[in-house]
Amino acid sequence: MAENIGAEEKIEEQEVKKVIPKEKVILTGDRPTGKLHIGHYVGSLRRRVELQNSGEYDKIFIMIADAQALTDNADNPEKVRQNIIEVALDYLSCGLDPKKTTLFIQSMVPELTELTFYYMNLVTVSRLQRNPTVKSEIQMRNFETSIPVGFFTYPISQASDITAFQATTVPVGEDQLPMIEQTKEIVRRFNFIYSPTLVEPDSLLPKNQACSRLPGIDGKAKMSKSLGNCIYLSDTAEEVKTKIMSMFTDPTHIKITDPGHLEGNTVFTYLDAFCREEHFLRYLPEYQNLDELKAHYTRGGLGDIKVKKFLNAIMQEELEPIRQKRKEYEKDIPGVFRILQEGSQVAKERAAQTLAEVRKAMKMNYFDDLELMEEQSKKYAR
Ligand code: TRP
Repeated sequence: MAENIGAEEKIEEQEVKKVIPKEKVILTGDRPTGKLHIGHYVGSLRRRVELQNSGEYDKIFIMIADAQALTDNADNPEKVRQNIIEVALDYLSCGLDPKKTTLFIQSMVPELTELTFYYMNLVTVSRLQRNPTVKSEIQMRNFETSIPVGFFTYPISQASDITAFQATTVPVGEDQLPMIEQTKEIVRRFNFIYSPTLVEPDSLLPKNQACSRLPGIDGKAKMSKSLGNCIYLSDTAEEVKTKIMSMFTDPTHIKITDPGHLEGNTVFTYLDAFCREEHFLRYLPEYQNLDELKAHYTRGGLGDIKVKKFLNAIMQEELEPIRQKRKEYEKDIPGVFRILQEGSQVAKERAAQTLAEVRKAMKMNYFDDLELMEEQSKKYAR
């Protein structure tokens, strides 16, 4: 019975009637705290474009999560504001097509905040404290005991983002899995306590292990703006080349004849993420495939420069069309804002529809519920 369900108890899947989704819907997004880099590209952007063009999805929503970005940048709204257009340009230049994909700004859909407020009743503080991604982010940001409530609760807001669009599929990196899990729990709890209303989403992870977490060019585990180890989608060809040629490889591979190591070797990790067999034919025909190249490197006799040049050729081939497209969009910034404005309108309508259903399920549809009015009238009729 609903009365007995505390916010902490797990609800088993079979206990709740699932909402059968009518359509296949994607929702995902990024915080606009900086330009997007090739880690974003191989980890998510490239896949989103594939999914968009696969024709398998009925609707695709991609959100610039400005409100979420503010949860740990409250004192820096200018940073968030400046990066809206950067992220939008990165999206468009990678091939996200506003005719097929709705691009929008989170804060322009205030329905999301209202949903968050209702979902907050379905999640405990201790459940939020157990979220591994939030935990590590708190450490990284040195919040210690002064954690902003908004930041602490952002997994709930992310559940609103996902459920507002009745998303069935959320393409994300591994670090976002705890958010999807939290969303599923909220959906089950909501559907169990009120009535089956919300769609339970599934995550969609990158296919290739190397793509999940592309290291920085210095070999550090993560690409980050503050470490200065990123290759940006908006970098020029020269900048990309310089960065690749300075990449961390194997410090024990000093002479060409020395045997090389692949473990932690950034150039090879990047090749795992970018290289396809056809590239050998074009740029390095003395090898059939990446396995042969790796074998030679491990044996000794293959120099870093040669491998780096190969990587550079591949990456330039992939990044050049993106740079060209970006240049086109940069010429019409008002047009890019218009795309976001129109997308936000479409997104708002969809979220409003879900919110109306949520309110109804929660018995907060006071003015369009004739039964309620009759029942209350009867109560007071003599
Ligand atoms: N948390 C995501 C990030 O840091 C951004 C995001 C916000 C998101 N809401 C979302 C991703 C909903 C997927 C679904 O990049």
